[in-house]
Amino acid sequence: PTGLLGDVLGRPLRDLRISVTDRCNFRCSYCMPKEVFDKHYEFLPHASLLSFEEITRLTRAFVAHGVQKLRLTGGEPLLRRHIETLIEMLARLRTPTGAPLDLTLTTNGSLLARKARALKDAGLQRVTVSLDALDDAIFQRMNDVGFPVAEVLTGIEAAQAVGLGPIKVNMVVKRGTNESQVLPMARHFRNSGVTLRFIEYMDVGATNGWRMDEVLPSAQLLDLLRSEFELKPLSPAAPGETAERWAYADGGGEIGLISSVTQAFCGDCNRARLSTEGKLYTCLFAHRGHDLRALLRDPDIGDAQLAGAIAQVWNGRSDRYSQLRGAAGAETTDAGERRVEMHYIGG
Ligand code: GTP
Ligand code: 5AD
Ligand code: SF4
Ligand code: SF4
Repeated sequence: PTGLLGDVLGRPLRDLRISVTDRCNFRCSYCMPKEVFDKHYEFLPHASLLSFEEITRLTRAFVAHGVQKLRLTGGEPLLRRHIETLIEMLARLRTPTGAPLDLTLTTNGSLLARKARALKDAGLQRVTVSLDALDDAIFQRMNDVGFPVAEVLTGIEAAQAVGLGPIKVNMVVKRGTNESQVLPMARHFRNSGVTLRFIEYMDVGATNGWRMDEVLPSAQLLDLLRSEFELKPLSPAAPGETAERWAYADGGGEIGLISSVTQAFCGDCNRARLSTEGKLYTCLFAHRGHDLRALLRDPDIGDAQLAGAIAQVWNGRSDRYSQLRGAAGAETTDAGERRVEMHYIGG
């Protein structure tokens, strides 16, 4: 039962985002606020994590269904022990036409300087690094563990040096917290070969106390950038892309705007998410996942049945949370039920 899938809205399955750990060494207030994720918080026990063999077996089924891009996330994926081994296993997979997959990883950069070489050697193609400010006081307040900017920058340089590129940097912009960093970040990464992407602060999960007035709409952010730089729009590099791309008119590179709050991009969303313990989520804002681990660990279930289960979930998918929320104004459309947390499902 493999072949190309389409969901209820006709969207194909192209992108699989795999969370390899629910742990992180940062406590970004918009993702894992310290008050909730303190020393009493119970992270998943080791036995409930998917093994590398299980992840690879599942990924093979997803690839048979049309997945072309894999992204490892967390939590912080570089905290998962021997992650290089998983990367080696995934790098060997091929699409039905024999092409290698686009294999990438999203990291907070804290361990990148140490691990860049091993990641590259294992077959990782590129990385996306999260960095919310260049000013140390602001960054340390946002990561809430006092982690210095300089070490993330060193990590980015190490990744560039070993050829883990093209590199993207993700900056979540919170009005009143780090909007002062928009221009300094743009100046820093201009002409560096790194693509800086500005992400609207999202109402993901149930613990970050999201408020619409803390969102800096991308339209305003663009005005701010254009007060200093001449920018021209670029067409999308691939269908279903999250970021709207803009180029510096003088050839200084490009930037991206990820506007999931003010300009939802559900219309061609082709992303599936696999949680650390093997649940398949068809939307970043889903309440419930589909338990694939139970199938993986059932000796009576073969690869064909596994692929069939994935097809069934995707064929029944109708999620378009951001679009519906946008239509309902700033109000969330699903008050009452608890949404999945970002650190558990990945970005
Ligand atoms: P590349 O451009 O190929 O590197 O991948 P990408 O655009 O998927 O990038 P990335 O994984 O870095 O995603 C950037 C950010 O966009 C994430 O951290 C999320 O904040 C947001 N994002 C990604 N996918 C979705 C999605 O499906 N829905 C929403 N609402 N936000 C998303
Ligand atoms: N809104 C927008 N982006 C977020 N991220 C985490 N939480 C949020 C949120 N509430 C981003 C991180 C990282 C990626 C994994 O997701 O900064 O770049
Ligand atoms: Fe960790 Fe990334 Fe969440 Fe920050 S956004 S707490 S770095 S997983
Ligand atoms: Fe895709 Fe859900 Fe994000 Fe819309 S809100 S783009 S459906 S993950």
